[in-house]
Amino acid sequence: MFASEEALRLDEQYVIHTYGRYPVEFVRGEGAILTDAGGNEYLDFLAGIACLSLGHSHPALVSALNEQVGKLWTVSNYFHEENRGEYARLLSELLASTTDEMGHITGKTDTVWKTFFANTGAEANEGAFKLARRWGEKHLNGASGILTARKSFHGRTLATLAATGQDVFHKSFRPLPAGFDSVELNNIEALVHALDHPTSETGPVCAVMLECIQGEGGVWPADLDYLRAVRAECKARNILLIVDEVQTGVFRTGAPFAFQRAGIEPDVVTVAKGVAGGFPTGAVSARAEVADLLVPGDHGSTFGGNALAVAAGRACLSTLVEENVGEHVIEVGEYFATRLAEVPHVAEVRGAGLMRGAQLDVPRATELVELGLKRADAKRRGVVLNHIGDSVLRFLPPLIVTKEQVDELCDVLCELLG
Ligand SMILES: Cc1ncc(COP(=O)(O)O)c(C=O)c1O
Repeated sequence: MFASEEALRLDEQYVIHTYGRYPVEFVRGEGAILTDAGGNEYLDFLAGIACLSLGHSHPALVSALNEQVGKLWTVSNYFHEENRGEYARLLSELLASTTDEMGHITGKTDTVWKTFFANTGAEANEGAFKLARRWGEKHLNGASGILTARKSFHGRTLATLAATGQDVFHKSFRPLPAGFDSVELNNIEALVHALDHPTSETGPVCAVMLECIQGEGGVWPADLDYLRAVRAECKARNILLIVDEVQTGVFRTGAPFAFQRAGIEPDVVTVAKGVAGGFPTGAVSARAEVADLLVPGDHGSTFGGNALAVAAGRACLSTLVEENVGEHVIEVGEYFATRLAEVPHVAEVRGAGLMRGAQLDVPRATELVELGLKRADAKRRGVVLNHIGDSVLRFLPPLIVTKEQVDELCDVLCELLG
């Protein structure tokens, strides 16, 4: 474990401490391996919190960014830009895929998806709220409420905090924007009741917003039947279904998008994190009928869809498809789930593909993350893990992680927990 004295000092003195940071300074990454400032190696099972979909320094992304960085960075959204349209087209193609419940691609719908490019997941979700409110204005007599799920996480801006169904994130920051409330996940009666009897928090509802697997909440999957029932309920009421795929999106669960495993089609989908392989970009996509409700002047973002971001996004999506990464994720993800279930003190394995949570029967998750980092030295690799509370380990490795690396990680977990 290593961070230079200077890095620690500068951070302590000049950086706002909204994050508790581990005393490790990473200086290089390749594939699923990180190297710290002391030359020690770590197996990365966090991938920048689900961002490095192709791993660190993938040649396709390095060359796309290198080429673009010497050419053009940003020209504003007032002008056309070489890769923006193709990036949006690739997203549309992936959003139109159909899959089976495992995530294997089975075909394609003829839906055309249109995209607004943002920079982060929270900003993508803000765009989704605007689409929903515009839909309510146009089709639902001004209904403006947005229902989400308890334990959800949708971001840190004030509106996305209001959408986040976890009170712990709300306190100290009130008043939050009005019009949001949450109901229990996987309880269709609770959702129907909330839609039939809108609370004073939401008023009449124009959209339901869900994660297919709640990541920050502790890796809690929505049942596929629940997703189907929510889709039907929204359709019957002409309410939008927004799926937040910021963490689950773009092959993280094996399918291009996690909603596809339920055989449903949402009205609006948001992405960020892994969509450009770790380069900061977010996006909100919608069926044309919904997307076309926003017209020039309604929404914007100076850096959204800038030349570097769309070059990275285009390269990332085409590489994910060309290298058939989805099938790899399904295979390695299933193997990982089996191996995890054999680790001592793992009581339950949740999630899909390479988004997995291990529920421990001992409150040791916080300590395990520290031990995983501390074991790095000249002879042994460390492991980069993540915990949610003290009893859940969350795993979000690069999507190109190998079975051998899964074995290496599980051997370390057995050593630490045995
Ligand atoms: C499901 C989900 N939505 C939104 C966000 C917010 O994304 P960002 O941090 O890029 O704003 C996150 C971040 O963890 C997330 O997991």
